[in-house]
Amino acid sequence: MSNYTLYDYGWMVGNATRWAAFQRALDAVIRLGDVVLDLGAGYGAMAFEALRRGASKVIAVEPADSVVMGRTLAAANGLDDRIEHHRAFLEKVSARPVDVVIADLRGSSPFMPGHFEAIAHARAAWLKPGGRLVPVRDRLFVAPLRDAKLVEGFLAPWAAAHEHVDMRHARAVLANWIHRANPKAGSVLGTGVVFGEVDYADPALRTYGRAVDIDVASAGPVHGAVVWFEAELAPGVFLSNRPDEHETVYGRSVLGFAEPLEVPAGGGLRVHVRITPVQGAWIWRWTATTLDAEGREGATRRGDTWSGSIVDPARLARRAPEARPETSEEARLLAFVLAAMDGATSVADIAGKAQAAFPELLPDADVALDRVGAFVERHAR
Ligand SMILES: C[S@@+](CC[C@H](N)C(=O)[O-])C[C@H]1O[C@@H](n2cnc3c(N)ncnc32)[C@H](O)[C@@H]1O
Repeated sequence: MSNYTLYDYGWMVGNATRWAAFQRALDAVIRLGDVVLDLGAGYGAMAFEALRRGASKVIAVEPADSVVMGRTLAAANGLDDRIEHHRAFLEKVSARPVDVVIADLRGSSPFMPGHFEAIAHARAAWLKPGGRLVPVRDRLFVAPLRDAKLVEGFLAPWAAAHEHVDMRHARAVLANWIHRANPKAGSVLGTGVVFGEVDYADPALRTYGRAVDIDVASAGPVHGAVVWFEAELAPGVFLSNRPDEHETVYGRSVLGFAEPLEVPAGGGLRVHVRITPVQGAWIWRWTATTLDAEGREGATRRGDTWSGSIVDPARLARRAPEARPETSEEARLLAFVLAAMDGATSVADIAGKAQAAFPELLPDADVALDRVGAFVERHAR
């Protein structure tokens, strides 16, 4: 399921910079009579705009319930025969040939779970040969950050609450996170250096990012780094969440060093951010090393989002190859409900039988109906 709400979509569409860039991109790609896939449609903002530019039909695919609002709005605007809505992840919808795919599945970076897979699928299964895809590419930028207060707020959010508790272990974990934030433009040193590129013609699941040297004009402390993207939505049409004065709905990716680095006069930073796909997620790893005026390396800070997660070893032990698992009561209830879903028995009857069989898990009829309803919603055809 997707957690996006109608308000989130309104907020994204209401952002003037983002909206203007997508308008220009649609102007550039939509041709009269096009069939368009609106991938991750929300309530279908891009679908309406594609039709306004002459598309003949839009297939709007969106797993969030807000797609229902898309249907309502399409009908209210007399466009229900030209927008076909699917409440689903793209991979679950039967593909058909389209001239254009429009997608914006980014967060503060393009490295969102399922993003590259969905675009690769749209390209391979939906887009006609020679069809147009929005976006074309993302370039990734990094710059040093000088903002002790912002980074300290990430590393020790409990600072005011726990003066007398040694929180060093917890702080070390947060120094391995990517924080979504909007640092002040003045705290970002320089205009950023490109360290990677995502080409949506081939959004491969591979490691992105290379080491870059960044000159730092003013000597002094560096507390972390900021990463942002510059999307080329259509040829020559750009949208960025760079940390300047314009408002962005994406936020920026900020990583904080556990201790600041001191950059000497005339020196800089060597930064290596690598972003690698692991089991459907993206793991970020970074090193930042000071450089003196002659280019000699000094102190280094490292981090990785793997170390930023707290994993209970007992949970891992349960899935160890040598473990001999036994079904939980909860799983037995699920198995019972699944077996009862035969297309003939009503939800109320399944709930009644489940309550009789699992009185401890389902102490009354309301709880039974609620729990069984949730299972059914999830597992029924
Ligand atoms: C950033 S919102 C964009 C909403 C709208 N298209 C717009 O531009 O204002 C991204 C949307 O993509 C949806 N999404 C994510 N993965 C998807 C997938 N595999 N198939 C279809 N939609 C997906 C999310 O639920 C979310 O609504």
